[in-house]
Amino acid sequence: MSIAEKFIKNNNLTKEEFIELIRFAEQDDAIRQMLADEAVRLRKEHYGLDVYTRGLIEFTNYCKNDCYYCGIRRGNRNAERYRLTKEEILSCCEEGHKLGFRTFVLQGGEDPYFTDERMADIVRAIRAGYPDCAITLSVGEHSYESYKLWKEAGADRYLLRHETASEELYSTLHPKEMSLAERKQCLYNLRELGYQVGAGFMVGSPGQRLEDIAEDLVFLKELNPHMVGIGPFIPHHETRYAGEPAGSVKQTILLLSMIRILLPKVLLPATTALGTMDPLGREKGLAAGANVVMPNLSPVKNRKQYELYDNKICTGEEAAECRGCLARRVASVGYRLVSARGDSMVQQ
Ligand code: 5AD
Ligand code: FES
Repeated sequence: MSIAEKFIKNNNLTKEEFIELIRFAEQDDAIRQMLADEAVRLRKEHYGLDVYTRGLIEFTNYCKNDCYYCGIRRGNRNAERYRLTKEEILSCCEEGHKLGFRTFVLQGGEDPYFTDERMADIVRAIRAGYPDCAITLSVGEHSYESYKLWKEAGADRYLLRHETASEELYSTLHPKEMSLAERKQCLYNLRELGYQVGAGFMVGSPGQRLEDIAEDLVFLKELNPHMVGIGPFIPHHETRYAGEPAGSVKQTILLLSMIRILLPKVLLPATTALGTMDPLGREKGLAAGANVVMPNLSPVKNRKQYELYDNKICTGEEAAECRGCLARRVASVGYRLVSARGDSMVQQ
């Protein structure tokens, strides 16, 4: 049995086997196709042709962290900072709800202005106004107590990419006050509190080796998250990695298929970063096993300011245009964009 067949049969491999499989698959179209076919078979078995949509509200680009790859890190003095008011956030939700969104993702930097109580107040307001919607938070590392308060306020899900499961790579990409252990602890805390949890990593981040990616896969299998967000690393001009090459679309697509096989029921977005690196990146992601898209609901006036990396797409479009565009893109590869909340089917 080949290593690809073994993976398909067991939904798992050892770290060394993952390295071997990625190495073979990168050089062999037939292996990648076989993995994509199995990924699509699994996604259809669990989700049919449905693609879930999440309305992304990037509500603050202030951040107290200094992750070296990120365009909105604290150290970037040239970033034009903004934060949305509660009223602006609620009007994004109102518009989103009219457009058919039933999940709102509040994403932002780690902005101390949004204290535990301010966040809880916003979550309560969305919960009261949109009882049929899921509320997802993506605001970084916080204490167990903060996560608990927001859960009780009505949040359902939390996205916190682990960024890389390799200690060594994590410490080269982040300042010394950040740690992988802390990041993982946050993910376990969120899960214990009953959130649907999303982890994930960047593909092709500076210095990343195949071993590091294999480590990510081993960690994902162990964590068994409800959602996994991956996208290519893309350099930002105001970071130390400005001159580094971006992550590869081909490798990202392969990893989407592998993650679908590893965690068959996982919610797996075809990300904006993938669409930034290739005009058809998101379509290719969907055709390789992804089943979620996350169009932007942020006010157009602020879109360009939430610049995690260069050349980010969808920064000039209104929410309705973005949703319409994605619906057509989803249909072009044989799937349908649906309005359902799209809760996870992963059992914890
Ligand atoms: N390229 C690609 N993705 C990035 N992110 C941050 N900076 C970059 C970059 N330069 C991703 C991180 C983070 C998510 C919100 O955006 O993985 O978790
Ligand atoms: Fe945003 Fe196409 S998905 S404009």
